Amino acid sequence: MKCSIWKYVLALAATGAVGTVMLGVSKVAVDAAQRSAVSPELSGSDAEQVAQAILRQKCADCHGPEASYSKFWNALSFGKLSRDVDGAQRSFKMVPDSEIRSANVDYLKMDHVLRTRRMPPASYTMVHLGSRLTPLDVSILRNRYKEQGAELRRFAPISPAAEPETEWDRARIRLGQLLYHNGALSTNNQVSCASCHDLTKGGTDNLSKSEGVPGADGLPQLGGVNAPTTYNAAGNIRQFWDGRAADLKEQAGGPPLNPVEMGYSKPEDWAEIADKLAQDDEIRTLFALVYGGDGITGDTITDAIAAFEQTLVTPDSAFDAYLKGNKNALTEKQKKGMESFVNRGCATCHSGPALGGISFEYINTHSDLREAAAPKDYAEAAFGLRDFTKREEDKDMFRVPVLRNVALTAPYFHTGSVQTLEEAVRVMCKTQVGGSVSDAEAESIAAFLRAQTGKLNGRPLQALTPEETNPYLSKPTAQ
Ligand code: HEC
Ligand code: HEC
Ligand code: HEC
Repeated sequence: MKCSIWKYVLALAATGAVGTVMLGVSKVAVDAAQRSAVSPELSGSDAEQVAQAILRQKCADCHGPEASYSKFWNALSFGKLSRDVDGAQRSFKMVPDSEIRSANVDYLKMDHVLRTRRMPPASYTMVHLGSRLTPLDVSILRNRYKEQGAELRRFAPISPAAEPETEWDRARIRLGQLLYHNGALSTNNQVSCASCHDLTKGGTDNLSKSEGVPGADGLPQLGGVNAPTTYNAAGNIRQFWDGRAADLKEQAGGPPLNPVEMGYSKPEDWAEIADKLAQDDEIRTLFALVYGGDGITGDTITDAIAAFEQTLVTPDSAFDAYLKGNKNALTEKQKKGMESFVNRGCATCHSGPALGGISFEYINTHSDLREAAAPKDYAEAAFGLRDFTKREEDKDMFRVPVLRNVALTAPYFHTGSVQTLEEAVRVMCKTQVGGSVSDAEAESIAAFLRAQTGKLNGRPLQALTPEETNPYLSKPTAQ
């Protein structure tokens, strides 16, 4: 105990010393004259210059592109400096990277720290005199984002899918719907996209790990990560937990040629799939109609599936009704949950129309999600974006899942290891925003998330039947 107190005092002293020695310049922040000359209404390039000065002087030590620290002082502070810089770089970069995070998420993160005055961290302002953000700094930074046209769209209603404009569009979507439910894409003719992304189960299989075609032992082979929903996936910044597919069309080419999922393994195998599909009259006719001479190929198959998936959007949840002005659409408990969701910063990463899907984020900023959410003997097969980019710094950065319809998509996380929404909320508080949460607050946030269940073609998702979603089970007149 004593020892750890001394560690702390030493660490503080060391960080303080680093502040003065390493930086060399006085951090009495934006120079007083410059500051008295600005007002929150300042606009144009003047405002930008002042905003840049604030960021440079108060934030860049940790968030700037050249943020660094001295190894000597880092050792003396028991690694606090490197942890600060590393944590800062992992959650927010002053130079945005649109491949990894939509500008909206960056803006919302900034908005969140400005509202909560969380940054710069207290351990930093204590030793860097004048680095605390003043109310004037805050309004200048806020205005900067407004002026750059940021919409700060925390939430937005889901827009219904566009009506097909032509017969050709209609045929392409119908074809995609048939293919999505067609076992011919798998070696044993049993596994379809819908096996793992069942539209009556929130677009998932409700399994921890998905079951693909049988392996040598005759048992279904299991995937390495939990299957995300196909509902509203069209809005994702990239597809898959690790982002290895740019869009829905590229994504749809993955499962058929995945030996564990649908069983094929090489591009030439599309020819065999095409032969099987050509035996179905309706499918053959639709391919001819939609793709003419291009025929049935990996390219046309995935194009049609993606067109169908574009229609899998789910407007008209209770939350959508609330956003459109019906203040009674949410219960008091749900409104409380929504407030917590915003105040705790959940609505930075989980923002936009689908409440997520638009950034990659580390799952171990405050503590490791696997420790918080997965059983001790969990065999991890996934390391996020790194699996795709092979860049070490992308390890453990996962594409944020959408939270629309999340009440229907248990179990949760890429690990598929958490069964209830309340528990998922507790894990998120621990790993993504830091801190614990009372049972009552976790329950109200979960209640808010249950208001996210929307409708497909006017039908509540939780009430959809196989006959309504699977064209092979419905009457020929459907659609
Ligand atoms: C001493 C280093 C340090 C300084 C200086 C610093 N930050 Fe941070 N910042 C961090 C760390 C560490 C994190 C990640 C942990 C956390 O969110 O608490 C972070 C996280 C953030 C985030 C992401 C928060 C979220 O909700 O995801 C934003 C935005 C941010 N900082 C903005 C700023 C701004 C603006 C300044 C300057 C006014 C600043 N920071 C100064 C260390 C720093
Ligand atoms: C055996 C089960 C299985 C089958 C069959 C399957 N998927 Fe998936 N799907 C998964 C799993 C598991 C993932 C997550 C994999 C990952 O991220 O590495 C996934 C990911 C996706 C995603 C990305 C969603 C997101 O949020 O990133 C989409 C879209 C998708 N699948 C659509 C399809 C389509 C279309 C088909 C049919 C061509 C299909 N899936 C067949 C299990 C399956
Ligand atoms: C810094 C970004 C970030 C913040 C802030 C954040 N999340 Fe998440 N959330 C994620 C990521 C990334 C995942 C996926 C983690 C994984 O599966 O490994 C996730 C997953 C989830 C899931 C599981 C969804 C599913 O389909 O598996 C829920 C529920 C959730 N978050 C709710 C919340 C709540 C509630 C908060 C606020 C307490 C919150 N999140 C804050 C990034 C974030």
